[in-house]
Amino acid sequence: MTGNITFTMIKPSTVKAGYTGNIIAKIEEGGYIIKALRKVYISKEQAGRFYEMHIGKPFYEDLTTFMSSGPIIVAILEKGNAVESFRKFIGATDPAKAEEGTIRKVYGISLSENAIHGSDSDESACRESGFFFSDLERF
Ligand code: GTP
Ligand code: MG
Repeated sequence: MTGNITFTMIKPSTVKAGYTGNIIAKIEEGGYIIKALRKVYISKEQAGRFYEMHIGKPFYEDLTTFMSSGPIIVAILEKGNAVESFRKFIGATDPAKAEEGTIRKVYGISLSENAIHGSDSDESACRESGFFFSDLERF
């Protein structure tokens, strides 16, 4: 049984480049309902906690520096089979390997600056949503 919620972040380089509106429009055209959305500017320490599963990996330092380098858009999305379908929708982690027409193919610059995040499991979607949105809010 798969859930119908996933969590996304439009990453700093993409927000800085002015693609927020285009990407939100594309997400809605893809049939995802925006349940919650916020623009935030996280610290390196917060980015480190968000990506704690990558502690010790060679890219962890650059990843947390990048994710705290400017404002990001965080959002909770709803659609059937949300996690798997959204991962497919945004494309492979490395934009060079992403399918034509995916968000990472169109807006990604490199493996490090790959435009957008998508949760990798229902458990991650729940943890990541809770990182930015309070349980007290109704979605
Ligand atoms: P996210 O949606 O951002 O979590 O990407 P992902 O789930 O497709 O990849 P993963 O969680 O494994 O890695 C998190 C982020 O670290 C990726 O989005 C990449 O920007 C970066 N990353 C992952 N693997 C590498 C790598 O081998 N080298 C570098 N430089 N960056 C990496
Ligand atoms: Mg990931």
